[in-house]
Amino acid sequence: MANLVITIDGPAASGKSTVARLLAERLGASFLDTGAMYRAVTLAAIEAGVDMGDEEKLLGVLETSEFQFAVKEGKMAVSIDGVDVTERIRGPEVTAKARHIASAAKLREKLVRMQRRFAAGEEKIVTEGRDQGTVAFSDADVKFYLTADAGERARRRRAELRTKGGGEPRPSDGLGESLEQIQKAIEERDKSDEDRAVGPLRPADDAIIIDTTDLGIEEVVEKVLRRVKEKCLKRNQK
Ligand code: DC
Repeated sequence: MANLVITIDGPAASGKSTVARLLAERLGASFLDTGAMYRAVTLAAIEAGVDMGDEEKLLGVLETSEFQFAVKEGKMAVSIDGVDVTERIRGPEVTAKARHIASAAKLREKLVRMQRRFAAGEEKIVTEGRDQGTVAFSDADVKFYLTADAGERARRRRAELRTKGGGEPRPSDGLGESLEQIQKAIEERDKSDEDRAVGPLRPADDAIIIDTTDLGIEEVVEKVLRRVKEKCLKRNQK
């Protein structure tokens, strides 16, 4: 088990990936983007032509493909059977279909085990997702839950899409969508994350909740860093 485990959970586009990455950098910790794991299995299932409602077949995909997750240049690099899919797992089809993997109980169990194994090999880790503080690392040292109102999250997602797409809209990349459409998709993802029976999105009882609606990334990182230092100081004094 790592010496320091920090979990960051929250809804889509709440800024948790960026905050987790920057926090890990400042603490000299490793980081784990667990959404990338759900996305990778989704992509493998799409490529294998598996029915997204068939949990046994989905489990077969997870068992027969070789997934690799590694931090490279501060980013979560993902490969399936030796092929780098880091960019492809961010595509709109994967984003839309990942909820099937996220609500399959047996798959979640396996992915949580993989997450714990990953953390066990690290000295310090910042791990982000939906259930990191509630399920995967319920005894984490410090837990955060980041949130922001859906309108603000839609604006952030649009800015991210524009940066990634180099400002050139293509029908398949979500760039042609209006802000209202992006917000609607985000709200649908929230609902599916919150309503699933296994690993639903919710703050852990002992999580520090931060509403980032009116905060810039740097302000959030500073806040988080301050709370980590306070908590660790208290822990060391015990
Ligand atoms: O954070 P993200 O958008 O990359 O997540 C991709 C999908 O995986 C999304 O449908 C939520 C799901 N997910 C999850 O169920 N549990 C996690 N710990 C992380 C992500």
